[in-house]
Amino acid sequence: MKRTVYTLITGASSGIGKSIAWYCGSLGMNLVLVSLPGEGLEKVACEIAEKHQVKTAFFETDLSQLDSPKAVFDWSQLKQFDVNILINNAGVAGASVFETSDIKYIDDRILLNIRALVMLSRFYLPVLRTHEKSYILNVGSLAAFWAIPYKSLYSSSKAFVLYFSKSIRSELKGTGVSVSVLCPNGVRTNGSTNTRINSHGKIGRLTEISADEVARIGINGMLKQKIVIIPGKVNWIFLFLRRILPPSIQQKLLAREFTKEVLATRN
Ligand SMILES: NC(=O)c1ccc[n+]([C@@H]2O[C@H](COP(=O)([O-])OP(=O)(O)OC[C@H]3O[C@@H](n4cnc5c(N)ncnc54)[C@H](OP(=O)(O)O)[C@@H]3O)[C@@H](O)[C@H]2O)c1
Repeated sequence: MKRTVYTLITGASSGIGKSIAWYCGSLGMNLVLVSLPGEGLEKVACEIAEKHQVKTAFFETDLSQLDSPKAVFDWSQLKQFDVNILINNAGVAGASVFETSDIKYIDDRILLNIRALVMLSRFYLPVLRTHEKSYILNVGSLAAFWAIPYKSLYSSSKAFVLYFSKSIRSELKGTGVSVSVLCPNGVRTNGSTNTRINSHGKIGRLTEISADEVARIGINGMLKQKIVIIPGKVNWIFLFLRRILPPSIQQKLLAREFTKEVLATRN
């Protein structure tokens, strides 16, 4: 008997996650959407179900709470949602001076960007393993490739996502579970990303890409089992510069560039 399978997407109520949900719906995937309470997730789920004639369900929770990833898993098991694609997209960005960063700012980046993603991967792996072919797509960032001043927590959390994804991909070789990591650069998804992209002037405008484009490239790359997916050709230039420029010069340039961002986003 053919199994009714589901794609689970975190952070699906807005931004890149919402675009991923719409794109997956357009490919005929049934969806389980997860996001913070009271942010319109039900509306997104209903609209996608109606437009693309797929099954959708939603679960509202704060994934930075310690018991939340397990609560998502237990609920989806109880509902018998047979997940064959896990997309860990929920994450928070931001720029701050580390020395004066408040505890919640620090916790949010560790508990959501890292812990929730790790725990959901851990809980769903046994389910994913029961499928002949299944996928994990972790949303990292181009920031993962540098030690960025004023984005110490964000760039480090995304470096973790990059290395974690590559590590478990190797562990899972030959199992049918493919793990990919999506590393976008600037995407105008909310007020804060607008301010951040604008603070980088021409570079920001040159490298930005839409959430819909990121979703399309990300999902297609995941289905092709790519390891690292970097949307936007111009972003490859940064990775090339990373290989040829001396690290000390890179750090100087990063400090200059991201001072602008921390000043622009300071409350
Ligand atoms: N935008 C960029 O420029 C950019 C660049 C590189 C990488 N990324 C990465 O892409 C991912 C999505 O970013 P985005 O720009 O689309 O962000 P966004 O517009 O702020 O959306 C984030 C999503 O995650 C949800 N979320 C936030 N905190 C949560 C929590 N504690 N528990 C559960 N859900 C939570 C949000 O729910 P609510 O709507 O309910 O708040 C929203 O659905 C992140 O991992 C981010 O680091 C973004």
